[in-house]
Amino acid sequence: MLRREFIRCLQAVAAAPTIGPLSVLLGSCAPGGVVLNVTATNGRVVIPESDLSTESLSTSYARVYIDESRNPIYVFTNANGAMVALSGICSHRGCTVKKLRDGFECPCHGSEYDLDGKVRTGPALNPLKAYEIKAVGNEYVLSIID
Ligand code: FES
Repeated sequence: MLRREFIRCLQAVAAAPTIGPLSVLLGSCAPGGVVLNVTATNGRVVIPESDLSTESLSTSYARVYIDESRNPIYVFTNANGAMVALSGICSHRGCTVKKLRDGFECPCHGSEYDLDGKVRTGPALNPLKAYEIKAVGNEYVLSIID
């Protein structure tokens, strides 16, 4: 998280009505968000609902690392409150993109993506890969089958 993003996040927390413990709210400003290391089975990852709080994901995000991959899948809620899972691999040449408040940027050659993963600025030509994630009971199921 860039310094200006962290400051904006703190300002948003300060302006927000108190809806939970301050530590939870401030935790949503933590650099890098929540980190989950998980294992896939048959192309699916099951994540307990408690690990992906929609309250904190509305202002922050989770980085889900599957099977010890070095590249995360970013999970967050969009403006409509829907859960989104996007690959952290830049479609240009495969660097790991960074999550910003309003999208993603690639540190290698400067590509930028919006929160839907669509290219805002090249050289990347293709969007970030999107994965299906849905709530099933008290869990989220992330499908990583191509
Ligand atoms: S690898 Fe991301 S812009 Fe080139």
